[in-house]
Amino acid sequence: MTTVVKHFLRDDDLTPAQQAEVLELAARLKKAPFAERPLEGPRGVGVIFEKNSTRTRFSFEMGIAQLGGHAIVVDGRSTQLGREETLQDTGRVLSRYVDAVVWRTFGQKRLEAMASGADVPIVNALSDEFHPCQVLADLQTLVERKGSLKGLKLTYLGDGANNMAHSLMLGGVTAGVDVTIASPEGFAPLPWVVEAARARAGETGATITLSGDPQTAVVGADALVTDTWTSMGQENDGLDRVGPFRPFQINEALLAKADADAVVLHCLPAHRGEEITDEVLDGPQSVVWDEAENRLHAQKALLVWLLAQRTGDRP
Ligand code: CP
Ligand code: NVA
Repeated sequence: MTTVVKHFLRDDDLTPAQQAEVLELAARLKKAPFAERPLEGPRGVGVIFEKNSTRTRFSFEMGIAQLGGHAIVVDGRSTQLGREETLQDTGRVLSRYVDAVVWRTFGQKRLEAMASGADVPIVNALSDEFHPCQVLADLQTLVERKGSLKGLKLTYLGDGANNMAHSLMLGGVTAGVDVTIASPEGFAPLPWVVEAARARAGETGATITLSGDPQTAVVGADALVTDTWTSMGQENDGLDRVGPFRPFQINEALLAKADADAVVLHCLPAHRGEEITDEVLDGPQSVVWDEAENRLHAQKALLVWLLAQRTGDRP
């Protein structure tokens, strides 16, 4: 019998029911951090970075330890990936040593290529197109603050074509959240991602709205979200990533137009004074520090869930 390996390369790799299971487990693990020990042994997880990271690196390494396992955290360039060993061969070899591979890389196709050779789950720790682990933590944070997700209105402001905008759309509608992406002209989400998100929204009854007007996009929102205007790898892309974005800054005036109980999320690192002001980031409606903490709980839950899919042990 062939075992189907479940990967987490983009947000819609989890069905709505599976995403809900992971989020419930994340809440349980936040209360009881050592309740699940699927990596006891220790079993290993490879954690590979081809871009900088603070939160993802610390939360995965700590989370894997709390699950009883051992994290092998490496800079991708120092491995043979830096000398062009194929991604498929790398996935095949790593599967002989570790029970899962967590990878932060550039194009989504690289993740798909490694997954095609791997016998263990591959987890996207951020690619150019998606940041699905972050969105699990964002959803966990919203559940904590709002009680439930279905029917919430979330507005993202900024680069609509980046990994966070894409993952918030896909992961958000999976949870039944109505997602609005407000971005300057030329920075709308990629059409194929919008299409995938609309397909998922059709299953859950959620809506997707694309807007060019930050002032109207935030009206009545339960959550405002932003991210850097220049993602890793875009530093020299020749585009003006400041001027057109200024009206999309989350500041007190814009926040005042959202629901009075709206929360503000940012995956961090923040560029204070650019996409968000100090007053908002450090203000009473900001939940960014809980959001950062929840990376730990959400990713532990994801790993427990993915490992259980493999062994057939339900968490
Ligand atoms: N939010 C996030 O992924 O942070 P790092 O880049 O520090 O991992
Ligand atoms: N969009 C940002 C997220 C950083 C966590 C980037 O890719 O750099």
